[in-house]
Amino acid sequence: MGVKTFGVIGAGQMGNGIAQVAAYPGGLNVIINDIADQFVDRGMETISKNLDRLVAKEKITADAKAEILGRIKKSTSLEDMKDADFVVEAAVEREDLKLNIFRKLDEVCAPDVVLATNTSSIPITRIAGATKRPEKVIGMHFMNPVPVMRLVEIIRGLATSQATYDLTESLSKQFGKVPVECNDFPGFISNRILMPMINEAVYTLFEGVATPKAIDDIMMLGMNHPMGPLALADLIGLDTCYAIMNVLHQGFGDSKYRPCPLLKKYVDAGYLGRKVGRGFYDYSK
Ligand code: CAA
Repeated sequence: MGVKTFGVIGAGQMGNGIAQVAAYPGGLNVIINDIADQFVDRGMETISKNLDRLVAKEKITADAKAEILGRIKKSTSLEDMKDADFVVEAAVEREDLKLNIFRKLDEVCAPDVVLATNTSSIPITRIAGATKRPEKVIGMHFMNPVPVMRLVEIIRGLATSQATYDLTESLSKQFGKVPVECNDFPGFISNRILMPMINEAVYTLFEGVATPKAIDDIMMLGMNHPMGPLALADLIGLDTCYAIMNVLHQGFGDSKYRPCPLLKKYVDAGYLGRKVGRGFYDYSK
């Protein structure tokens, strides 16, 4: 049986983007879930604004936008995932929370349903171990901003079956993305390479080597990066960057992955990046 209804846990910046591409261009019915109405509503507003961009560019009509939004059902109860044929979890990057969600999904969802996670670094094998269907658990890692970035990094856990992989790969293509496969190892490929670069940029700021703008300009103008590492950290969220550095540090036991003290200080201060209006840059204006 094909996937008709796609469940997304978490309506934040990753979750609402995933829900959007599942609905368009994916063409699926979507259930978007979060812990409270206000988070789901905020996610729906972002999807609506992103679809407005497509209407303005005449890629879709206003009627098509209404039809796409009509296929996205709001939910604040994990029980609603009983109607989903495939679920991807995109909750905040906390292991205890994700393990609880997977235990609950394992109870609620039909036995043949694949449970994917958009985790950016928590081991897929460990998440799979919280369920009785480890062969149906897989990493489906989208990049921010989801509607724009082409990659889906697909991560096989130790027990992930080939059928689970094949389904995840074909859905990624249906969503207009390019799937690339890797195995379960700390930070997978994307964040094992990206996060140490961002962390090193924070160290250069910490050590007073240059201003945030100079650090970012050097990487943009000299390396052709579309945005500098500190602006990118603000886009990803400094709490997420810090959590991923800790996973790398613990996972490899190598001091080269220690998070920069300034990154921790910004997280402690609540300077989490664009989502709160303040990170390495001020977005309040
Ligand atoms: N949602 C939807 N569409 C968006 C968007 C958003 N949040 N932001 C930009 N866009 C669209 C614009 O509408 C525009 O579309 P068209 O080309 O069709 O007109 C296009 O993207 C380019 O946007 P802009 O011209 O406004 O800006 P830009 O050229 O500077 O691009 C960017 C913005 C795409 C974010 C670019 O700067 C970029 O690629 N940055 C790097 C992003 C990146 O590295 N992401 C990965 C982060 S790591 C991660 O996500 C994984 C993890 O686990 C932490």
